[in-house]
Amino acid sequence: MQRDLHAKPFDEGTRSKLAIFRDYLREWLPVFFARKETIWHTINIYDFFSGPGSDNYGNKGTPLIILDELSPYFQTIIDKQLIVNLYFNEYDKDKYKSLRDIVLTENGEVPPYSCKITNLDFKIAFDFEYPTMCRSKSVNLLFLDQTGVKHINEEVFSKIIHLRQTDFLFFISSSTIKRFVDHPSISQYIKLSSEDIERTPYHKIHRLVLEYYKSLIPRNKDYYLASFSLKKMQVYMD
Ligand SMILES: C[S@@+](CC[C@H](N)C(=O)[O-])C[C@H]1O[C@@H](n2cnc3c(N)ncnc32)[C@H](O)[C@@H]1O
Repeated sequence: MQRDLHAKPFDEGTRSKLAIFRDYLREWLPVFFARKETIWHTINIYDFFSGPGSDNYGNKGTPLIILDELSPYFQTIIDKQLIVNLYFNEYDKDKYKSLRDIVLTENGEVPPYSCKITNLDFKIAFDFEYPTMCRSKSVNLLFLDQTGVKHINEEVFSKIIHLRQTDFLFFISSSTIKRFVDHPSISQYIKLSSEDIERTPYHKIHRLVLEYYKSLIPRNKDYYLASFSLKKMQVYMD
């Protein structure tokens, strides 16, 4: 049985992941908010595996990190009349309820963004939101913090890379791949050879995974993908 990530204080691996996500947002948001001339009027941020908002000890998860990092730009959003849409999704009913309570907490101010929170299976949520992601004059950031490996399959990956003005960050479990690559529940989602997996140490599995996803990019398409690996206190950058 999967342990519940949110029942205990986030461990070091999760804290590293969240720190990377925060740093990424810190670089991503000014590209659209701090430029003189507005090219993209609509900014969509999707957190498809939101969790309940924080762990049970109050440490902030991705939804609250997004709200934190957005808050310095409130006046810019108003002044430039930008449209900012936040989307949070969480499948577990109890976590979804906590997420709603935490994100929609009223502090007397009306925030300059819209916020949609759903309680759907990822694939349903993704397919439902996809036409909005495809709109012109919009930019998208997709954060896909899945547990395990199965949600970013060939179909989802192909849909993502065909979106314009879209950046995405997703996580995949190297340890699951290393331990269960031959198991049908893994091999149906990610097609890697067991020999390659066996001779690759845990901390380098992400490179095989990167090559696999690169192989799904059509030959005539310029697309940039990069990988990194997290192991408790360590981050291996490529
Ligand atoms: C790794 S956690 C995400 C943690 C979150 N980003 C945070 O910072 O707290 C993955 C989350 O996805 C949820 N989940 C599991 N299966 C899902 C599915 N099919 N669709 C949407 N969410 C799902 C889990 O309940 C869990 O809260």
